[in-house]
Amino acid sequence: MDNLRLSPLISADEIKTRVLKIGESITDKYRGKELVVVGVLKGSFMFFSDLIRSIDTDLTCDFCGVSSYTEMQSTGEVRLTLDLSRSIRDRHVILVEDIVDTGLTMNFLRRHLQIHKPKSLTTASLLLKPDALKEECSLDYVGFKIPNDFVVGYGLDYQGYFRNLPYIAQVSNIN
Ligand code: IMP
Repeated sequence: MDNLRLSPLISADEIKTRVLKIGESITDKYRGKELVVVGVLKGSFMFFSDLIRSIDTDLTCDFCGVSSYTEMQSTGEVRLTLDLSRSIRDRHVILVEDIVDTGLTMNFLRRHLQIHKPKSLTTASLLLKPDALKEECSLDYVGFKIPNDFVVGYGLDYQGYFRNLPYIAQVSNIN
C-alpha cells in the first residue's frame, strides 16, 4: 500500500454529526413503529453500527451482501452473495449502503427487497457520487455528496484495506 496517497475528505467529527442527524430524522419518521435495518456488507458495517445507535425506536438488524467491484472499478454486474436471514414481509425496512456510485447496486437491492413485499422501504447511503450515476437512483437519506473519486475509510476499502480508518479519504496511486 506504499504506492497509495490518502487525502482526507470527510473527518470523523463530520461523519458523527451527520450520522446523528440522519438517525434523528429516521427516529422522527418511524417513532412508535418497528424497523428492520438491513446493512449491505461489507462496506456499510461502520455506518450501520453508528446509525442504528442513533435511531431511537424498536428495531432488528439483518444483512445482505453483494459484489460488483474489482479493485477500483464497478464491473456493472451485481451479484447477491448473502441474502436476508428473516422475512421482511409487511415490515418497515431501511436499506443501509456505504456509497452509491453507479447506482446499480442500490437499485438491484431495492428491486430484490421489494419482491419480499415490505410495508415500506427507505434507503440510506452515507456517500453519493452524483457524477458517477449510470441510472436514476432515488435515495431517502444521503450523508454526503462527494466528487467522482475513489474513497476509503469508515468501512470502505481498497483491496480489503483501509476499512478501519475513522474518516473518509480519497485514494490515489502515486506511481
Ligand atoms: P455502485 O453499484 O456502482 O453504486 O457501487 C456500489 C458499491 O461499490 C458500494 O457498495 C461499494 O462497495 C463499491 N464502491 C463504489 N465506489 C467506491 C469507492 O469510492 N470506494 C470504495 N468502494 C466503492
